[in-house]
Amino acid sequence: MYKTDISVKIKSLEMKNPVMPASGAYDYFEDNANVFPMNTLGAIMLKSIHRRERFGNPPPRIAEITAGMMNSVGIPSVGIDKFLAENQPEKYAVLDVPVIISISGNSPEDYVEICQMLEGNPYLAAIEMNLSCPNVGTGLQLSSDEVLLGRTVQACRYMSSFPLIVKLSPNVTHLKKMAQIAEECGADALTIANTYMGLKIDIKKRKPWLGNTTGGVSGPAIKPLTLYHVFQAYRAVTIPIIGCGGIMGWEDAIEYFMAGASAVQVGAGNFVNPMLMKEVIDGIDNYLDQNGFHSLKDIVGIANQKGSSAECGCNL
Ligand SMILES: Cc1cc2nc3c(=O)[nH]c(=O)nc-3n(C[C@H](O)[C@H](O)[C@H](O)COP(=O)(O)O)c2cc1C
Repeated sequence: MYKTDISVKIKSLEMKNPVMPASGAYDYFEDNANVFPMNTLGAIMLKSIHRRERFGNPPPRIAEITAGMMNSVGIPSVGIDKFLAENQPEKYAVLDVPVIISISGNSPEDYVEICQMLEGNPYLAAIEMNLSCPNVGTGLQLSSDEVLLGRTVQACRYMSSFPLIVKLSPNVTHLKKMAQIAEECGADALTIANTYMGLKIDIKKRKPWLGNTTGGVSGPAIKPLTLYHVFQAYRAVTIPIIGCGGIMGWEDAIEYFMAGASAVQVGAGNFVNPMLMKEVIDGIDNYLDQNGFHSLKDIVGIANQKGSSAECGCNL
């Protein structure tokens, strides 16, 4: 099927290739299934499901910025009870792709309860813990407070037998430290990272553009920033990293792999080019083949020698 081995394994989660949507930035609907070949993806990542029902933030929730976008969607969600009562995970069974559920809550207890409710669900392959949404009350607290982060991951680890992917916030001074804590507390992989806190002002109305005042910045503007975080975290952890931030083409994905990511997520780029994820998958395979690599693993961290600090400005 591919010219090279681009498969990725994170515990029991087996992906034929390393590309998946970023949570909230692409979902499976019957109508878009006719446009995008969903079965080509390495995995499907669902929009974050909150512990309880949420209506999300007031509009406008999206703003265009130079080299990217901002959102303050705020995780509108039916809540996990209704999500499961409506058998929503089942609708993905028509696809031949592992499904990762993204979960969100206001407290460590919320995450643990969701893990408990999901345990044994046959339609899911892994859980991504979104501990880093800048648009909900406690979103940033959970991934910027070392104790809270550790306690939340550890409790979910105890509760869940699914592969646990912890999605970190870039809005911290030392993401590398948070990555280490997540690993020590039982994460099987890390997604680095969520959006960056930002602000846009409508100069005609003389007030913040977004209904929720602030929002999360994503898209090409953040790629060098998140790439740096991946580079730093790769030196500090042994678990796989999923790079997420500003991927607009296969070349960006290759950079993430060379910095240390084992897989990638595509978010804002899907809004510009709905076929982007397919192009990224093909581009990765072609790049490896044309450069004499047999496996994606051969380039993971190739530009990032662990243990050497000389070429890395900030070694905190
Ligand atoms: C409209 C929108 C909605 C998002 N919703 C979620 C979400 O529900 N859960 C989550 O973990 N991240 C969410 N994100 C963040 C993305 O998953 C991703 O981490 C971020 O956009 C950076 O990747 P990108 O630069 O490729 O967009 C959202 C991003 C956008 C643009």
